[in-house]
Amino acid sequence: MSANLQRPQHTSLESARLKRRAHALIPGGCHTYAKGDDQYPVLAPAFIARGSGCRVWDTDGKEYIEYGMGNRAVGLGHAYPKVLQAVQRELHRGSNFTRPSPIEVACAEQFLELVDGAEMVKFCKDGSDATSAAVRLARAYTGRDLIALCSDHPFFSTDDWFIGTTAMKAGIPETVQRLTLRFRYNDIAGAQELFEKHPGQIAGLILEPARTEEPQEGYLQALQRLCSANGAVLILDEMITGFRWHNGGAQKVYGIVPDLSAFGKALANGHSVSALAGRREIMRLGGLDHDDRPRVFLLSTTHGAETHALAAAMATMEVYQHEGVIEHLYRQGTRLREQAEDAIRRHGLIDFVKITGRPCCLAYATLDQERRPSQAFRTLFLQETIRRGVLMPSLVLSYSHRDEDVDRTVAAIDAALEVYKHALETGVEHYLVGPPSQTVYRRYNRAAETPDAQAAAAEAIAAPVT
Ligand SMILES: Cc1ncc(COP(=O)(O)O)c(C=O)c1O
Repeated sequence: MSANLQRPQHTSLESARLKRRAHALIPGGCHTYAKGDDQYPVLAPAFIARGSGCRVWDTDGKEYIEYGMGNRAVGLGHAYPKVLQAVQRELHRGSNFTRPSPIEVACAEQFLELVDGAEMVKFCKDGSDATSAAVRLARAYTGRDLIALCSDHPFFSTDDWFIGTTAMKAGIPETVQRLTLRFRYNDIAGAQELFEKHPGQIAGLILEPARTEEPQEGYLQALQRLCSANGAVLILDEMITGFRWHNGGAQKVYGIVPDLSAFGKALANGHSVSALAGRREIMRLGGLDHDDRPRVFLLSTTHGAETHALAAAMATMEVYQHEGVIEHLYRQGTRLREQAEDAIRRHGLIDFVKITGRPCCLAYATLDQERRPSQAFRTLFLQETIRRGVLMPSLVLSYSHRDEDVDRTVAAIDAALEVYKHALETGVEHYLVGPPSQTVYRRYNRAAETPDAQAAAAEAIAAPVT
């Protein structure tokens, strides 16, 4: 019997009502596109009511082992006791004052001890604050307007300089769109050409140090030399790699000291703290001491240094410093990958389901009968693991995922692969309950229909926005 002939699990009346209210009150129904209803199968939990460690419970009380962990923001686990206690202690002292709090200095010291190539840091709330500030700083420092981003990396910022390069660019002036150029990852000749085509005009290059593809030997160093030879700033976006690849970020793993780097996500275990860090020579332009250059309005917001969020960051960093968090992520990720790949092999699906990325930050790719990235098969795979109590938009795990959690996950994957195999044989539409999920960057809400839009969607499936 095909899965859609089975009785679908019911979303309770209560969560259906909540969903309707959410969409009536909040454009998109939530505050992060990647968490939206269009990103998940209809059988997915509509809302998560609470989490503890690597487990979450939906509003109907159903329990899931979670991967993705708040879009990678929760590195230690939900409601992690040491972080929770630090936040609670700080909350009683007040969250926001008319002058800075000493915790701002303490947090900066601790951060700079970990990210040892950086000389100064400024905290903010979201990753986009940090990457956009890096772009402004690069422009101010160089006196140039153009910025070049790595087009193989799907997301840098919610701001116009990046969103203007996506299919969802309504509302962004063309003049702004024209200021952002693109280069490909691991293609040093391409970056060189960009500098030759726009001599003396590129303020900086921004890229993630790595995503699913690792840097070729010497690539990042060559990019750094190229930037420096052309008077441009090299910006590393460590939103995902920071606090996953290494305590000191991917820059430590690859032996590179960028001019600027941006951190966020796992830095405060899900609390809202991000950071722009980098060379004093550039960062100082946001300060009060220089007279040789114009002042740069650098990351000044009412809530930028909310004290309990910084306390969360400090407690999180302390756990990373004194416990083997990174080692745990690699070890559990390796177990998960090996066991999942075993299951994929056993089902004869190695051409159709692939585990990608570093063990500390795994994802997966789902392909159709023609071996093309498929949103429908991705949705089916998610649907079938969700039915079995595992919520895995990616396979990004946390310090709280234990052996038994990984083993249960692999059992769910194993059973989902059985359905996948039947769907390959007889058609995914017979097994999918509801429509396939969609990619975030699309011009219209209806599904991508033109060949161009489909190609863009296929690329996006390979690297879903987090
Ligand atoms: C690599 C990367 N850079 C920047 C961002 C933006 O971070 P935020 O959503 O916190 O603004 C993200 C968010 O997913 C990201 O993955």
